[in-house]
Amino acid sequence: MLCPTAEVYKLEDLDTKNETLGSWQLNATHNVDCLTGLRAMPDECIDMFVTSPPYWGQRGNGGLGQEPDPRDYVKNLVEILNEAMRCLKPSGLFWLNVGDAYNTPINWREEDYVHSSLGAEGKGLDKNNSAYTKVRGRRKAFIDKKVGFLQYGNLLALPYRIVTAMGDAGWLFRGEVVWVKSRPLPEGICRRPHRRHEGIYIFAKSERHAFRVKPPVGSVWELKQTPNKLPHCSTFPFDLPLQCIEASALEPDAVICDPFMGSGTTARAAQSLGFNFIGFELDAAMCNIANSESSGNGQASLKLG
Ligand SMILES: C[S@@+](CC[C@H](N)C(=O)[O-])C[C@H]1O[C@@H](n2cnc3c(N)ncnc32)[C@H](O)[C@@H]1O
Repeated sequence: MLCPTAEVYKLEDLDTKNETLGSWQLNATHNVDCLTGLRAMPDECIDMFVTSPPYWGQRGNGGLGQEPDPRDYVKNLVEILNEAMRCLKPSGLFWLNVGDAYNTPINWREEDYVHSSLGAEGKGLDKNNSAYTKVRGRRKAFIDKKVGFLQYGNLLALPYRIVTAMGDAGWLFRGEVVWVKSRPLPEGICRRPHRRHEGIYIFAKSERHAFRVKPPVGSVWELKQTPNKLPHCSTFPFDLPLQCIEASALEPDAVICDPFMGSGTTARAAQSLGFNFIGFELDAAMCNIANSESSGNGQASLKLG
């Protein structure tokens, strides 16, 4: 079992329905680009979204996040989010977990010495230092001297750009949760705060959306963080979709959608609380994991009709 919190699943209690949503079978993750997947779903059919898209420039095999220009990343993600909001019921919420990025390469190269204050002389480390040689991802800094925020080393404020674009599109920005990480990634020696938090941003399409009021939902969450046993996918903790679902005050039989399903954490959280789910995932291997780890009806990747 991939998720160590699996003991909370109540798979035997689930009524695995053989239902469909638009073109897609319910309670399954479909191996398709999520924009295509969402476009094939009816208006206002989803009770809640919770998702974590790929972050800009992190490792990945195609799909969102590979755009060299971070502005294209924001544009592409917002296009997907707009399509998801079309599918959201007026009572529903969209919970978006997304991290920021510095305008630096993930893999330093020798030419990046010019930006470095590390090393004995402040001109960089030995060229064989793992800072330059370890393969972490393909992202390069995207510098445009004519655009103020696209300077080297700048924190790009990507979540704020996404939130602002969503507000400009007319969606309601209903709040922000700060997830405090118990196991933050090490950041090495650098002249900036070592990050141990990420944001979860909440959107609605109507002011009359549902939300749990008792007990009230706090804005700082210390989630139970379990080790990721999947080396090639940035899974979020099981506790993250679980807390979002519990804060959403869903009706029985609600449908929860994760357009970037990855290994299926959202599917398992939805099932553990007795709800339906639907997901999309571009990576076929990841999609198989999602379907084998959730008690989906085994017909994932099957587009009906
Ligand atoms: C951060 S991971 C999600 C991890 C997931 N929350 C979990 O716990 O396993 C993002 C996922 O989005 C997928 N992805 C990237 N672009 C996509 C697209 N256009 N449509 C569907 N999935 C996509 C990636 O393959 C990756 O598995």
